[in-house]
Amino acid sequence: MEKLTLKDKRIVVTGGAGFLGKQVIAQLCQAGATRDKITVPRSPDCDLRVWENCQRAVDQQDIIIHLAAHVGGIGLNREKPAQLYYDNLMMGTQLIHAAYEAGVEKFVCVGTICAYPKFTPVPFKEEDLWNGYPEETNAPYGVAKKALLVQLQAYRQEYGFNGIYLLPVNLYGPEDNFDPGSSHVIPALIRKVHEAQVRGDKQIPVWGDGSPTREFLYSKDGARGIVMSTQFYNDSEPVNLGTGYEISIRYLINLIRELMEYEGEIVWETDKLNGQPRRCLDTERAKQAFGFTAQVDFREGLKNTIAWYRQHAA
Ligand SMILES: NC(=O)c1ccc[n+]([C@@H]2O[C@H](COP(=O)([O-])OP(=O)(O)OC[C@H]3O[C@@H](n4cnc5c(N)ncnc54)[C@H](OP(=O)(O)O)[C@@H]3O)[C@@H](O)[C@H]2O)c1
Repeated sequence: MEKLTLKDKRIVVTGGAGFLGKQVIAQLCQAGATRDKITVPRSPDCDLRVWENCQRAVDQQDIIIHLAAHVGGIGLNREKPAQLYYDNLMMGTQLIHAAYEAGVEKFVCVGTICAYPKFTPVPFKEEDLWNGYPEETNAPYGVAKKALLVQLQAYRQEYGFNGIYLLPVNLYGPEDNFDPGSSHVIPALIRKVHEAQVRGDKQIPVWGDGSPTREFLYSKDGARGIVMSTQFYNDSEPVNLGTGYEISIRYLINLIRELMEYEGEIVWETDKLNGQPRRCLDTERAKQAFGFTAQVDFREGLKNTIAWYRQHAA
């Protein structure tokens, strides 16, 4: 595998101040990147939905790692499908085009497991990405992001532009978004349990019936995978980033209860949406193509996440 040396490269990490972005910057530095050559365009003064800001962000840069996104859990996807579609499509499409025009050496685009069809055979293989429509709740977000894969493949074919596309599974870890209006399932459940403990509640309501399965990748592992692909992967085919470890939401909440020592009961709100029935990735391509396998044990990762939240909850 030919290696892209990161030292002295001018690297833009869009969304670099976010949950995953901070970890990506740490992993870039660990892999040899020069910290003061890494820039992070922030949304208040560089809104990437605006073409001129995309041009400015990529000017004189070698590598773009595109993480910026309007992203959230099932609640946000239900409330703001139009914004999620427009924001994610406009940011990505314009940034890719600006990067191509500016002669950027490599573009790393971070997609999402929400791009997969609702009923994908488990484990999800990259070649099944187009075999059906995504789960309806997160389709606007998933389809907007999936369009960027097509764009990168077309730009590689026509212009020889080196863009790669990754499909990370649900991420979790310290510094996640714990805001109940937009958080994903793990931070949402940790916060619910914590607040129930503080109030002394004997019951917790949880969306759905607990049957859907999910896979979770520790954010530091996800960031490591992104940096390894930046260094070693140069192909048009998308690549899953995950652990290959599938668990049900029911198992997840019971593990969180155990780790947080909460003895109350779970009340399943079966009138609320379950979301996609099963999610678990085939992780072979990442292993073969650039040697990535996840390292952090789920229980350990969850303990760290809970400890971080408890420390910061006040
Ligand atoms: N979290 C997950 O479970 C997960 C799973 C799979 C894939 N992903 C992907 O991973 C990436 C990072 O996700 P995350 O969880 O780290 O999200 P996050 O913490 O919400 O970070 C997203 C970042 O995007 C930036 N951003 C949003 N709108 C912008 C705009 N209009 N212009 C410029 N920047 C903008 C924000 O920058 P400011 O701070 O400057 O506002 C923010 O720091 C996303 O592409 C997401 O789709 C995440």
